[in-house]
Amino acid sequence: MAEIVSTKPFDGQRPGTSGLRKKVTVFQQPHYAENFIQSIFDSLEGFAGKTLVIGGDGRYYNREVVQTAIRMAAANGFGRVIVGQNGLLSTPAASHLIRKNEAFGGIILSASHNPGGPDGDFGIKYNGSNGGPAPEKITEEIFSHTKTISAYKTINSADVDLNAVGTIQIAGMTLEVVDPVTDYAALMQTLFDFNLIRALIKSGFTMKFDGMGAITGPYAHRILEDMLGFAKGTVMNGVPLPDFGGHHPDPNLVHAKDLCDMLLVQKAYDFGAASDGDGDRNLIVGKNIYVTPSDSLAIIAANMHLAPGYKGGITGIARSMPTSGAADRVAAKMGLRCYETPTGWKFFGNLLDANMATVCGEESFGTGSNHVREKDGLWAVLMWLNILASRKLSVATIVTEHWKEFGRNYYTRHDYEEVDLDSANALMKNLRDQLPALVGQHGIHKADDFAYDDPVDGSRTTGQGVRLLFENGSRIIYRLSGTGTAGATLRVYMEKYEANPQRHEMETQHALFDLILMSRDCAKIEKYTGRKAPTVIT
Ligand code: G1P
Ligand code: ZN
Repeated sequence: MAEIVSTKPFDGQRPGTSGLRKKVTVFQQPHYAENFIQSIFDSLEGFAGKTLVIGGDGRYYNREVVQTAIRMAAANGFGRVIVGQNGLLSTPAASHLIRKNEAFGGIILSASHNPGGPDGDFGIKYNGSNGGPAPEKITEEIFSHTKTISAYKTINSADVDLNAVGTIQIAGMTLEVVDPVTDYAALMQTLFDFNLIRALIKSGFTMKFDGMGAITGPYAHRILEDMLGFAKGTVMNGVPLPDFGGHHPDPNLVHAKDLCDMLLVQKAYDFGAASDGDGDRNLIVGKNIYVTPSDSLAIIAANMHLAPGYKGGITGIARSMPTSGAADRVAAKMGLRCYETPTGWKFFGNLLDANMATVCGEESFGTGSNHVREKDGLWAVLMWLNILASRKLSVATIVTEHWKEFGRNYYTRHDYEEVDLDSANALMKNLRDQLPALVGQHGIHKADDFAYDDPVDGSRTTGQGVRLLFENGSRIIYRLSGTGTAGATLRVYMEKYEANPQRHEMETQHALFDLILMSRDCAKIEKYTGRKAPTVIT
């Protein structure tokens, strides 16, 4: 029976770069998750009788909120809910299910790469009928509902059993419990040449995949080991656990260190990859070489016609503003446009829907294409495998040949995590105030705060990061993270272009040394944050 429960607004339910993310303990407050979910429904129109996809990355509290969301979907009048078995769905698989079933939208429970467990983070985000994260217009609408909400709708019923695949009726709504992997794996088979990859594996090619105790374990076991034939044990940390087995499921050089050591120090495999908490990020390493996400995007764009799903070519490339300009060089050579969007996958949706871009990427280990409307970790891994199988070259050779052809964009990101929020805001304000004065100093020819005009819907998004653009093409960018849950995280992105192949073998931090010092100086990082050095370098 549907019931209406009175509630009061909570402060701070504004969705960030990717949905609402807070500590688990914040979400555990009575009515907290319900308020946000009702606010999502209250910002939507015309969903009566329609389909909603629900699933999450399995982190702590996923179980509870999946049940809450199912009850509320029934009470609010959805006709059908598709939910992953045991409440699990990777973010890209959820995006695919929305599209495949022509659902009205989806609710994804995840805090992505943030740590999980009772003291970790939780998150909720809404994706629309194109399978992509809700655009700003809707997230702002949701936020405004959270400020005035006085009641939510739910049904009074026991938890539904999500252990078995099948269809059940609940309060007049159809609930379909689906295997989280099957449809996604079938989609991957339409995009990539599985036989070619199987032949590569038969020739002795080896890889290691780190599921980081998070959602991609079951996907990787099924696709890499069962379907493609990589040896059992290729997937490590392949069981999704509520606390990710203590891992910080962020696939980068710091948090995927074991995997990186296997490839970069022990040189034990030909190829290595990892994905994050909800399966949308990817880390690519070869024997003795780390591929930056920015380079990976450029290399994928230049080679993706080798995969059957893209053999007709691509229409354009899109990258987030802080992502390096490597992709721009590929686009220029192919006579295509490279769009520069604000940080966050939601800005790619319009370009993909309008077929203006086929492939998109972010420096933050995100790559994907028009096959779904989220970034997709395993997609990137399979794309690399398809390219490696087609070109029959090592990862290192593919990367160095790419640099020879296009030049190398040395690139690094320095994060100063959990700094005091007021100090971080003061640092950004000071930088913005200084912008006009910085032009002309140190070879800076332009300094601004990035704004984006969406070429499809004409919307304008401002305040997306301070950019210092140098005459020689180098860049320093500053922005505050929109996904953190404690204090503020200052991200500083640095990039320098090097055309000369004789100078392509430098260590990245060394190659960028001058820019790194200048980044600290221009923003007075130590003065504002008290930090002499970043906490994470990627
Ligand atoms: C971070 C990344 C951004 C990515 C987002 C969600 O956001 O920088 O590229 O889209 O996570 O995965 P940020 O914390 O910087 O706002
Ligand atoms: Zn993620």
